[in-house]
Amino acid sequence: MQAKIIVNKDFVIDEISPEVYGGFIEHIGRAVYGGIYEPGHPTADAEGFRQDVIDMVKELNMPYTRYPGGNFVSGFNWEDAIGPKEKRPARLDLAWKSLEPNHVGTDEFMKWCAAANTAPMMAVNLGTRGPAEAQALVEYCNFPKGTYWSDLRRQNGAENPYGIKIWCLGNEMDGPWQTGHKTAEEYGRVAREAAKMMKWTDPGIKLVACGSSFDGMPTFGQWEATVLEHTYDLVDYLSIHRYFGNGENHTPGFLAAAERLDSFIKKTTAICDFVGAKLKTDKKVMISLDEWNVWYHSNGQEKNSEEWTAARPILEDIYNMEDALLIGTILITILNNCDRVKLACIAQTVNVIAPIMTRTGGGAWRQTIFFPFLYTSKYGRGVTLRQVVSSPTYDTTLQKEVYHHKTDDLKNVPYLCSTVVYNREAGEVSIFAVNRNLDEKMELDVNLQGFVPKEIIEHLTMHHADLKAVNSEGDESIRPAAASGDRLEGSLLKATLPAASWNLLRIKL
Ligand code: AHR
Repeated sequence: MQAKIIVNKDFVIDEISPEVYGGFIEHIGRAVYGGIYEPGHPTADAEGFRQDVIDMVKELNMPYTRYPGGNFVSGFNWEDAIGPKEKRPARLDLAWKSLEPNHVGTDEFMKWCAAANTAPMMAVNLGTRGPAEAQALVEYCNFPKGTYWSDLRRQNGAENPYGIKIWCLGNEMDGPWQTGHKTAEEYGRVAREAAKMMKWTDPGIKLVACGSSFDGMPTFGQWEATVLEHTYDLVDYLSIHRYFGNGENHTPGFLAAAERLDSFIKKTTAICDFVGAKLKTDKKVMISLDEWNVWYHSNGQEKNSEEWTAARPILEDIYNMEDALLIGTILITILNNCDRVKLACIAQTVNVIAPIMTRTGGGAWRQTIFFPFLYTSKYGRGVTLRQVVSSPTYDTTLQKEVYHHKTDDLKNVPYLCSTVVYNREAGEVSIFAVNRNLDEKMELDVNLQGFVPKEIIEHLTMHHADLKAVNSEGDESIRPAAASGDRLEGSLLKATLPAASWNLLRIKL
């Protein structure tokens, strides 16, 4: 099978925001307790944080980590989780039918962020609580001193303000599953008042309003328009969330799912610009894809543990080779939409639908999906170039997903899913490419117009005869390896992509 990409050095989509490589730690399952935090673990530091996990998070180079939820945040009293640990109340977490001991809260999380070389993206509770509590949290975190909340932070050990930059105005408020679910009108009003008070407290912060939990929501479209009509002048980003599944075990359909994400991003962008046009403003609201991943392997896992207990193992998807391919296509789609997707968080980071897994009391390991994320985070920096792609296509059926219980037909899906990144500082071009054809290799020509390529630095490829193969504690063998046989003919790169493979080609200029 043959495919071709043409790019031109001067035809740029936009700068890639480094913030698209964010992660997510929610108080859910073993993400916090047994994930990032496990006092008594052989690698635990003085604060009780697992160093093995910190090291892997650092490898992924995540600029932001969203916290503390997720559905959890919509019933969370942040004040429960500050101050002396022995005085903190245990609470019911209604979102996940768990017990929240509140041993980790804002101050502990800030220490973890410093250790893991990431920054917090803090979500406030607009489900059971409102603008006053959200404002108080901004004051606790970001106000220097001399007020009740800022002095309480200092008393709790943080003399200097945390300076948290990015704040989410609630989580998935369009979802009936959300604690304190709201209509678009109700949420729009509350989000506006919270936004005002939060920005009055710290004018330097940036805010993310809740968009749709996924594009199949019955309210998708109208929700965005209504929420933005209330909040446009105050918010910087609108969030979208998207999870993918292969419940019917139809891999060609599963691997096409990034096409749906691409249209979700474009439709949401159009709604943002529609509201901007109505309001007669040149301001653009950007997209924050602040939850995305494959999520379906662990469905029903919650039945194996007792309700209302702490750190119940839930949503512990074990990812296989084909999941890594899909993750590669999602990252490619984010880069191809880098003019509007300025923030993104893989959901989540540890144990709960995550690239990093741990055994409580045992080791930590890198799941298959760790690797496309790692290399895209490492080499997907710079600008994305506009591509003209010619590739054979296929017709397929998209798979049922966690919040979307029907299959959809999709036509003309290109076997090649690709993006071309130009890093001027490094003097490199990186090509990320997934061959979605399960049976045939792909002969790929990349015409790098306007570039003078010197050499192929490396071609990393990730594929496996068994698309269901997984990594496990002590066995991370499903990972990229070096490929050879590609060549440069002037500014033309000729490469071979194995069947069902993720690839990174790095070219020195
Ligand atoms: O990431 C798991 C859950 O998915 C989050 O809590 C919620 O926001 C989404 O529905």
